[in-house]
Parts: sequence; structure tokens; C-alpha cells
Amino acid sequence: MAAHRNILILTGAGISAESGIDTFRGGGGLWEQHRVEDVATPEAFARDPDLVLRFYDMRRAAIQTREPNPAHAALARLEQLWPGEVTVVTQNVDDLHERAGSHNVMHMHGEHLSAWCTACGERMGWTGPLLDRPPCPSCDEPSLRPDIVWFGEIPYRMEEIHAALDRADLFVSIGTSGAVYPAAGFVRLAREIGAETLEINLEPSQGTHWFDEARHGPAGRQVPAWVEELLAGL
Ligand code: APR
Repeated sequence: MAAHRNILILTGAGISAESGIDTFRGGGGLWEQHRVEDVATPEAFARDPDLVLRFYDMRRAAIQTREPNPAHAALARLEQLWPGEVTVVTQNVDDLHERAGSHNVMHMHGEHLSAWCTACGERMGWTGPLLDRPPCPSCDEPSLRPDIVWFGEIPYRMEEIHAALDRADLFVSIGTSGAVYPAAGFVRLAREIGAETLEINLEPSQGTHWFDEARHGPAGRQVPAWVEELLAGL
């Protein structure tokens, strides 16, 4: 049996960068076109819903024109061939992991291709715009919002994520700056239960010192190389 039975992989915007999706804090990144407080908070949505809906309509449309890159494909291949658990916890709100073939994916910050009705609480798959206030398919109210976890809101599926962290023998962080909690703290939880930790990122993240090993360079190259190395050891 391979040394690491269960692998938990945390991904961030860096894994989708080579698919042409803006990262958040990179040069010219997503937030630089919009001040964070202008779009990604409940207060901003209350203050200027049209601006927020337009912003997410643009992003929801943009990700549908993008394709998974070799890093997403490598993680799907790992899940398929690895004898133990492979769990992807992503901060990303695109669907590139799923379109690359990963099945065991948890979106802790929500998803662009999902809408949430603030009247009846239903969540549903959504690919079109929300700016024109379409009626909720469940309750008919014009009360749909992006199903995105905004700053100040609670990330999704945290219980399941902590349970998966407790089972992990190997924790790998890919393409995240380590700037936003709780995701940035997962590496420390993994270390506490004795998991090995690996960072794969373009450059050292803010939490790089917490990792046993760090590999720096584009995910599209680093992740397939790492996956092939793991599979060769089976
Ligand atoms: N390959 C690997 N890493 C890359 C690449 C690449 N091609 N391009 C950029 N990166 C790295 C950057 O060096 C950076 O460390 O990806 C990281 C992206 O960091 P952020 O832009 O901060 O994105 P992320 O860490 O996912 O942000 C976390 O913050 O704004 C909130 O909710 C939002 O989910 C997001 C969270």
C-alpha cells in the first residue's frame, strides 16, 4: 500500500490561472479591477445589487469559455488511479476540476454555476445572468443571488472538510496565496495529525514555512510531474 493512503488537496486560483481565469491577488488580478469591498460582501450586495450581479454575471459567463488545464487533468487522473482517498477542497468557484473529471470536490467558497434564492433558500445550477432578476424556479420570487461565499460569510462544508483533514496522510496545497482563512490554516491542522505537507505554487505562499516540502513553478507543469511521481511509486 502506498505510503500516503488518503490525500487531501487544497486548490486556489493559481490552479486555474493557466486556463485564463484571473487570480485574486496577482498583478492585474481580479480584485484589482474591482475593489473587494465593492463586490464580494453582503453589504456591497445590499448597497448596490446591480453592480454585484453584473460582476458575477461577467465571471459566470467567462468561466464557461475556459477549459481545464493539465493541472486539473492530473488531479482527476490521481483520483481515478490512487488506491486511497483523493479529496479536492477548492477555494475556486469555477467548475474546471469537475470538467477535468474530478468527482470528489468540495467548493468551500461556493460556485459561479449555482444560484441561491434568498426567499426560499433553495440552491440550483445556474449558467445565465442574474442581473435581470429571473424568478426562482422553486418559489417564483425574483430573489436569486450568486451562490458565492462573500467575505464575512461562513465557508461551506467545513465539517466535511475537517473530517477529511483528520483522515489525511498527505496534505497538498496548490495555487493559493495562503492569504485567506480558514483555508490558509488547513496546513497546520494537517501537521497536527501528522500528515505530510507539500506546497505547489508559482512562488512561496504566505504560509510556505508550514510545509515539509515546496515546489515552485506553474501548476500546469508541476502538478502533472508530482502526480506521475506518486503513481510511479504504486
Ligand atoms: N501556477 C501555480 N500557482 C500560481 C499560478 C500558476 N500558473 N499563477 C498564480 N499562482 C499563485 C500565485 O502565486 C498566488 O500565490 O496562485 C496564488 C493565487 O493566490 P490568490 O490570487 O490570493 O488566490 P487564492 O489563494 O485562491 O485566494 C483565496 O481569497 O479573494 C478570496 O474567495 C477568494 O477564494 C479566494 C480566496
